[in-house]
Amino acid sequence: MDFELLVKLRKSVRKYEVDKKPDRALIEKCLEAARMAPSACNSQPWSFIIVDDEELVQLVAKECTPLVGKINSFAKTAPVIIVQVIDKTNIQASIGSKMTDRDFNYIDSGLSMGYLCLQAAELGLGTCIMGYFHEDKIKKLLDIPKSRRIGLLCTLGYEKGGQTESAKKRKQPEDMIFYNRYMLREDENKRFDFQGE
Ligand SMILES: Cc1cc2nc3c(=O)[nH]c(=O)nc-3n(C[C@H](O)[C@H](O)[C@H](O)COP(=O)(O)O)c2cc1C
Repeated sequence: MDFELLVKLRKSVRKYEVDKKPDRALIEKCLEAARMAPSACNSQPWSFIIVDDEELVQLVAKECTPLVGKINSFAKTAPVIIVQVIDKTNIQASIGSKMTDRDFNYIDSGLSMGYLCLQAAELGLGTCIMGYFHEDKIKKLLDIPKSRRIGLLCTLGYEKGGQTESAKKRKQPEDMIFYNRYMLREDENKRFDFQGE
């Protein structure tokens, strides 16, 4: 698929065909894309647990709603939840993180999930990355040791009613692209008006 089309097609899917589980071969193809993602000093600080056991999916989904309201309640409609574990990084990336005062592990985590989601969309699958969850409870459910952190979770499945493209709410290019120097706008909030979606 043309990359530009793929980027437009990928979106966060929050309604799934409950009884239509993706084949493991397709899921593994998505993980292959994640495996190929770049990472600081090629440290690849990630492992991925594919949760596709129906009962376990429900238990994990229950722990994705830690905040008020209905946030992530859609997770229980997904046939698969991918749980990304942040593994020990290599010494170079760990020194790099300290020197630059930024945690490369979590940057790498987001990148690999982005790759996974794009591959999924190309295969006709829907995804939604989740950053809100009860980490300790999910760690217990999946035997993840205390010494490890969970990076992100991602639901995976077929979008209810079929794969559709939806309008993207995004900043306008002129509000986010600068040549040669950054320009602080007087009305910073204007950047979040999402005009002309
Ligand atoms: C790091 C990260 C954490 C996110 N966490 C959640 C989440 O917990 N629940 C949710 O419904 N969406 C979550 N999202 C999805 C974003 O809301 C979504 O990507 C954004 O609104 C843009 O919409 P789109 O993905 O459909 O283009 C997360 C996305 C990222 C990258």
